[in-house]
Parts: sequence; C-alpha cells; structure tokens
Amino acid sequence: MWLRNEGRLFGVVFVLFNVLLAVFNVLNYRVTSRATVPCVVIVAPTPAPDPRQQHRRAPLPAPQARTAVPVPPSLTWTDPGNAVSENQTASTTPHTRILLPRNATEPEESYNYTSAWDTEIRDKYTIVKRYIPADGFFLRPSGFDEGSVTLSTQGTFEFLHHVSELCSRWDGPLSVSVYAPGTDLPVAVRKILFLRRCGPICVRTNVTWHLAYETVLAPVRLESPEEMAELEQYEPFNCSAGFGPLELVSEIRSSKKLPYPINVARNVARQLATTRYVLASDIELYPSLNIVQRFLQLVSRLAEKDKNAGIVKPRRVFTFPIFEIKKNFSAPKTKAELVKRVKDGHAIFFHKWVCDACQNFPRRDQWLRSLPPEDSLGVFEVTKRQMPRTAWEPIYIGTNEEPLYDERLTWEGKRDKMSQMYELCLMDYDFYVLDNAFLVHAPGIKTLSNLDQRRRAPFMYKNNAVHNKLLAQMKKKYGSRKGC
Ligand SMILES: *[C@@H]1O[C@H](CO)[C@@H](O)[C@H](O)[C@H]1NC(C)=O
Ligand SMILES: *[C@@H]1O[C@H](CO)[C@@H](O)[C@H](O)[C@H]1NC(C)=O
Ligand SMILES: *[C@@H]1O[C@H](CO)[C@@H](O)[C@H](O)[C@H]1NC(C)=O
Ligand SMILES: *[C@@H]1O[C@H](CO)[C@@H](O)[C@H](O)[C@H]1NC(C)=O
Ligand SMILES: *[C@@H]1O[C@H](CO)[C@@H](O)[C@H](O)[C@H]1NC(C)=O
Ligand SMILES: *[C@@H]1O[C@H](CO)[C@@H](O)[C@H](O)[C@H]1NC(C)=O
Repeated sequence: MWLRNEGRLFGVVFVLFNVLLAVFNVLNYRVTSRATVPCVVIVAPTPAPDPRQQHRRAPLPAPQARTAVPVPPSLTWTDPGNAVSENQTASTTPHTRILLPRNATEPEESYNYTSAWDTEIRDKYTIVKRYIPADGFFLRPSGFDEGSVTLSTQGTFEFLHHVSELCSRWDGPLSVSVYAPGTDLPVAVRKILFLRRCGPICVRTNVTWHLAYETVLAPVRLESPEEMAELEQYEPFNCSAGFGPLELVSEIRSSKKLPYPINVARNVARQLATTRYVLASDIELYPSLNIVQRFLQLVSRLAEKDKNAGIVKPRRVFTFPIFEIKKNFSAPKTKAELVKRVKDGHAIFFHKWVCDACQNFPRRDQWLRSLPPEDSLGVFEVTKRQMPRTAWEPIYIGTNEEPLYDERLTWEGKRDKMSQMYELCLMDYDFYVLDNAFLVHAPGIKTLSNLDQRRRAPFMYKNNAVHNKLLAQMKKKYGSRKGC
C-alpha cells in the first residue's frame, strides 16, 4: 500500500523521480488542458443547510464574468512549509472565476449548477461532504432515507476500484470518503470520475463521495467536480483501457510520511449516510448479495418482538463473519459458494494467519455447517464481546447512535477499531451474528510481513498510547464491566 524500499538511496531517487513526475503531470494537467476553460472556485462553504434542502442541487451562480487576475500557473495546493495565509481571492489563475460563499438565505433561482457539498474542519483535517453525490441522491431522495441500508467505507485513491465491486453487490446507497491530501486530490477525483463514467451504473446512481485531507495540504481552491470533469474534453477516458492510462503518480503520503487517518474517514462516511442503518465496512470487504432487503425484513421482525417484550431501545449491532479467499478465485457471492470454497481449503476466516482472535466469534465452525434457505436472513447467535473475545473486531450493521471511532488512531498504528469495540462492551451491546450474510476480502490471503511491521512500529507505539488513555477515560465514563 505504501512505498516500501529497503535501499535508502534507491528510495530517495524513486521518491524524487515520482515527485517530479507528479509535479510535471499536474502542471500539464492544469495548465495545458485548461487554458480555455472557465473554472469555478469555492472560496468558502456555507454552514450545513437543512439536509432536506440538499436533495435539490444547490447550484453555483450563473457566469458573472468577473475579471480574473492573471498570475503564473502554480500548483494549486499549499504545503505546510509555505502555507502562509495567502489572500485566496487575490491569487486567481487566468482561467479561474471566484465564487463567493453561498448565502443560504438568498434565493437560488439564478443558479444552474450542481454542487451539494459542504466543508467542515475537523481537527487538522478538512472534510468535503458530498463532493460528488450519487445521482440517485437527487432522483430518489426518499429511497435514500428509510427503507434501505447504507454501506459506508473509505480509502485512498489506490483502492477506489473496489467501489465498483461493492456497489454491484450492495442493493442500497454507498457513502465513501476518500483521503486525498495535496497531489492525491486530482488523482483521486479523476479516478472517481472514471469509475462513474466507465464502471457499473451503480457507481453513478448509488455512490456518494466525500473527501478528507490535512487542511495545510488543501487545494488553494477546490474546483467543482463538474469543472474537474471538463478535463475529459482534452483527455477522454478510454473505458476499455481500464485504469492503466490514468495512473497519475502521487507520492505525497510516502514522501511526507503521512499516516492514513482511517477513523476520520470512517466516521465521515458513516455520519453522512442518509439511512438509519449503516454497514461501516472496509473498502476491500465485499458483501454477499441481497443483504439490504433481507436485513430490513429481519429488523422489522425484531422490532415486532421488541414491542411485544416491551424493549424500547435495544443496544444491538448485527455482525458479519468475514473471510479471505485465495488470489486465484473470485469472491463468493452466496453462502453456498463460500462454504464450498472453505471446504476445498481455498477460503479461510479473515486474518486467520495474522490475527485469528480478531474474527473468532462463538461457534464459528458451526456457522459454516448451517446453510439457511437462500432467500432468508436470520440471527445465528446472540453474543457479547466479552472475555475470551476481547480481541474480536467485528464489522457490523448499526446506526449512528453507536459511538464514533477515535480520530487520533491511524491505520498504520493498528487496533484502530479496538477502543470502539471496548466501548460497545462497556455499554453492554448485544452482537447478533447474521446467519446468511458475510463479507469476503478482495481475493488474496494476507500473511504477516516483517517489513510492514517495522515500518508501522512507530505508529503502533502512538496508537497504543492513545488506546490506553481512551480505555481509562471510558472506564471512568461508563464504569468498568466484568469481562470487557
Ligand atoms: C483580501 O482580499 C479582500 C477582497 O479582495 C480584501 O478586502 C482584503 O483586504 C484582502 N486581505 C488581505 C490581507 O490582503
Ligand atoms: C444573506 O442574504 C440576506 C438577504 O439577501 C442578507 O440579509 C444577509 O445579510 C446575507 N448574509 C450574509 C452573510 O451575507
Ligand atoms: C446552465 O448555464 C449554462 C451557461 O449559462 C447553459 O449553457 C446551460 O444550458 C444551463 N443549464 C441548465 C440546466 O439550465
Ligand atoms: C442502487 O440503489 C437502489 C436504491 O437504493 C437499489 O434498488 C439498487 O439495488 C442499488 N444497486 C444497484 C446495483 O443498482
Ligand atoms: C482504448 O483502449 C483499448 C484497449 O487498450 C485500445 O485497443 C484502443 O485503441 C483505445 N482507444 C483509444 C481511442 O485510444
Ligand atoms: C487457479 O485455480 C484453478 C482452479 O480453479 C487451478 O486449476 C489453477 O491451477 C489455479 N492456478 C494457480 C496459479 O494457482
């Protein structure tokens, strides 16, 4: 995932080469192809409007032909080294038009543009919410509220192709946040636009994209996705050629040693889901088919039971068994297919060779032996995440009432979901293991790598420190609970 180089010299040369290549690409990308295109710039966002309002496309002002101030072309993001507060409105490139912050109280008739996004500063990160909304978000907003389940996930540009597979398998909306600092941003957006153009239709209709980056690595101006898309006139996408020709290089994360703020991205994607139920998952975990409708039937059956039993606000989440499959096989879509692969020794429980306890739920071998009717979804087992399962890191369908993930924990540091799990234990959550649904990692079985361990060691040290503090705070807040 990250640049790993043993030889220092080789590493330096490689990074330098790529940085230069990235700079070259970006200059080309921005300058040569843009000279005649009027661009629009968002200088500052408005505060979050009423979510109902956002189902309409909130447009930008009609062209106002403001005089643009010519300055030499430059990279359009800032660097921590020189991020002195530039007067943003003064440094306008020749093909840039300035857009003042939208005034929510003003009528929108004069606008005909599409942009539904808002930005939020979240500690050192800037979040761009709904930068590219799903088309269905506008067309059928009601279908995106109740009567569905959102799959929320996150990633860096290297992983975005998995979203095609996710949305093909998921019968509901997806909320995806992309961590894209500095030079990663244009690369990520181009990939998203490619997926929307060339990927399965569900990418356009069902996937809403958000962005996250360090505020010091933000673009000086964030162009609208429509403006970014205009590049296509100059460099058309060749769908049959796949991602290959798109491979713009961006090494900012490795050259600046930026850790991936996975929990920021995770929380953003989850919180921006428009449905009550959310599956907050990882981008490489493919769900089995037909989960949403079956799940909704399951919860309505449970709601009936709760009503009869007088249970008001049950604390429960619905967890998925997770698997890995050998590189050579396609990811199973049904339990019957999965069970066959496991029997043949081609699929195993997720992270079996890395952290077996992390996915060891009660009676899991029994789970593999039971094969419910194909069109059903029920509960295999109700359990707690307690001793001896304190390392269990299930992925589950829950709601936004569950605690968020701590945003100081990074992906490199590992155990990034553990404290949230611990919190659910202290809050005495029930874990309902689903009987006929699962997640399977994109093909390829993971083994431990010493190089990876070494590289991540300093981040693990940091995460552990945060983790220990968190546990202490949580014990104070909830009181300790036996078994957690
Ligand atoms: C920034 O630009 C605005 C609008 O052009 C101007 O009013 C303001 O004085 C400028 N601020 C600085 C620090 O130059
Ligand atoms: C927004 O527009 C309204 C009505 O046009 C005006 O009264 C208000 O001052 C404006 N707010 C800002 C922040 O410009
Ligand atoms: C939006 O404005 C542009 C330029 O003014 C115009 O060409 C286009 O047709 C308009 N689109 C809609 C949907 O009104
Ligand atoms: C997209 O979303 C709609 C509405 O939520 C759903 O019916 C459909 O199955 C989803 N998936 C695809 C692949 O279109
Ligand atoms: C698109 O890609 C395919 C496959 O790589 C190639 O055969 C074709 O010539 C390309 N088309 C254009 C217009 O570049
Ligand atoms: C891939 O799997 C097939 C069976 O599905 C097998 O015949 C083939 O040898 C496998 N190839 C490799 C490289 O493992």
